[in-house]
Amino acid sequence: MALGASPRPIGLVPTMGWLHAGHRALMARARAESATTVVTIFVNPRQFSEPTDLARYPRNEARDVEICTAEGVDLVFAPPVDEVYPPGFDTVVSVGAIAQPLEGAARPGHFDGVATVVAILFNLVRAERAYFGQKDAQQVAVIRRMAIDLAIPTEIVSCPTIREPDGLAMSSRNVHLSPEERAAAPVLRQALLATRQVWENGERSADALRARMRAGLSEEPLANVEYVSCADAATLAELDRVDGPALLSLAVRFGSTRLIDNEPLG
Ligand code: PAJ
Repeated sequence: MALGASPRPIGLVPTMGWLHAGHRALMARARAESATTVVTIFVNPRQFSEPTDLARYPRNEARDVEICTAEGVDLVFAPPVDEVYPPGFDTVVSVGAIAQPLEGAARPGHFDGVATVVAILFNLVRAERAYFGQKDAQQVAVIRRMAIDLAIPTEIVSCPTIREPDGLAMSSRNVHLSPEERAAAPVLRQALLATRQVWENGERSADALRARMRAGLSEEPLANVEYVSCADAATLAELDRVDGPALLSLAVRFGSTRLIDNEPLG
């Protein structure tokens, strides 16, 4: 990458492509705060725990590059797999406790793959700032931990979740939903907001809040719950009582498509 002469600060937006309005919001924020905006498009095989999930991950590089151009991105880096992981590559960046619950428990090896590729991208691009979505709240926490622990100077910026008009969080995986599943999918957001309301009305038992999320999701027969969580916002450890900042989060399968969403409390 010829970044040496690029004006600074550099803003980096790492993605796996199939770009949507969530990615575009990250690009717009990066562009507003940077002299050079870099987007990476790399479907990282090391962060997929299921081979079928990797095989069917949607791709359209030509369209993605058009979107980057429309957003005023200065440089798109879309390397082949063996450029990121050349023969002999043999290092794993493995973040500790914060990477273990929730997505870490549900998707073994996932965060090792994420941390490893993001560390490589950080070292290649050497951006002043890198932009990530709050939709993947645990991912942001894992990357922040890694950046602190490995003395990576790139500042991690977390950006709000962008949603469809009916509340469904934008995701590259939404394309796999059947029309019936797509119609049912806003139940994630509805369950989170209903639970937030219960919390706003004074409920502080985490069990009661988790039960409210499950009750909301159970109204939708197509929704197969993988987990619901009411966790400490800083450690992501499950709570007994919500006395400080917390994160409600859930993972739900519709057929073979797995969706996640979350809502911070306090
Ligand atoms: P990907 O799923 O393509 O997401 C790229 C970035 O876009 C992530 O920071 C993600 O949180 C953010 N994003 C996705 N949907 C969003 C939404 N609806 N609103 C706001 N931001 C959203 O996350 C990854 O790729 C990969 O794990 C990656 C970090 C690139 C490492 O391979």
